[in-house]
Amino acid sequence: MPSSNEAGTVTGENAPPTRSVDSRPPGGDTPEPRIGDVSESGTGRAPAASAYAHTNGSGPAATASTHAVRVENITKSFGDVHALRGVSFAAARGTVLGILGPNGAGKTTAVKILSTLLRPDSGTAVVAGHDIRKDPAGVRRSIMMTGQYAALDENLSGRENLELFGRLMGLGKSAARKRADALLAEFDLVASGRRPVRQYSGGMRRRVDIACGLVVRPEVVFLDEPTTGLDPRSRQGVWDLVSALKEQGITVLLTTQYLEEADVLSDNIIVIDKGTVIAEGTADELKEKTGGSYCEVVPLDPTQVGRAATALGDLVPPALALSLGGAERLSIPAPEGAATLAEALRRLDAADIALADIGLRRPSLDDVFLSITGHPGRAEQPGDPA
Ligand SMILES: Nc1ncnc2c1ncn2[C@@H]1O[C@H](COP(=O)(O)OP(=O)(O)O)[C@@H](O)[C@H]1O
Ligand SMILES: [Mg+2]
Repeated sequence: MPSSNEAGTVTGENAPPTRSVDSRPPGGDTPEPRIGDVSESGTGRAPAASAYAHTNGSGPAATASTHAVRVENITKSFGDVHALRGVSFAAARGTVLGILGPNGAGKTTAVKILSTLLRPDSGTAVVAGHDIRKDPAGVRRSIMMTGQYAALDENLSGRENLELFGRLMGLGKSAARKRADALLAEFDLVASGRRPVRQYSGGMRRRVDIACGLVVRPEVVFLDEPTTGLDPRSRQGVWDLVSALKEQGITVLLTTQYLEEADVLSDNIIVIDKGTVIAEGTADELKEKTGGSYCEVVPLDPTQVGRAATALGDLVPPALALSLGGAERLSIPAPEGAATLAEALRRLDAADIALADIGLRRPSLDDVFLSITGHPGRAEQPGDPA
């Protein structure tokens, strides 16, 4: 499923993600990236002047800061909709920052501002050493927005696709070829590198696709809900991409509605709701806040959820009891783990409520939301149509 390589496009929530291929000046303007260059200076581009250069007195600003992304008090309104109400966060170089939040939280607005597609009303941000207001071109040269399938040419070989991509990104002919060969080796594609892509298996295609994203090493990659609405297999492809990027030391900002995804992929997570950062920390820290594990109760008859809640009594937090409308299952904090589960079973049994399922699980995004905000995030699960 090829997508267009639209210039400077932020990956939409449901659109096939695209790569920004025009975001670098042609080869003449900048030094060519070195093969296998994973050095601190990234692509080896010339240092850009930046008002936010940090102070060790040498090297480009990007290398002087431990943060690849630093956001300070950004606000953005659309008319009277306050999409961002003073958001601050930072992502350390080479880490994955998960930006977790329900629909309308302000995730896409934040990503668009950081990739210079939107201007903030107030506040500052520095991306890869470049101030988004003062040096948007510098920001664009340093970032990639991608998620999934590139526009691979079916009739070209993997190697030719990679080479073509390198040329599009401004590499010279021999540099593009060398980079293609290095990536084929890195992604275990040497043997098949000269066969046309149309003969590739899904897995091989995915590896070529990921490799295309790394032809020219960006410093920061933005993934805006790259897995919303995807089937599990495609979701895995995106997860592989994130891992590959991270292995290369590239900083990734990943927005998602799914705690599980943020959990698996992120070093740090910020939770945003209604344009405000309401929590931050590692996945474990966030789960701590929501009280460890949860007990999920699924009555055989979905209309019995209310009765089940009544039977469970004080095991059901008040905020949850108030937000049960239409729910088919009940998820209650289980601070005592199996003992809470056993107690829940006893109470449900005493009230004669037949169950389709009951079990302990880790907190979901909804649990985190309910716990932090007192209101549910949303009810959908990964894989649901968005
Ligand atoms: N161009 C726009 N015009 C008006 N309102 C907008 C625009 N873009 C976003 N919004 C509003 O700003 C809020 C945040 O949106 P968004 O950043 O897309 O959230 P998320 O990506 O977390 O779902 C929402 O209320 C949304 O309706
Ligand atoms: Mg969005």
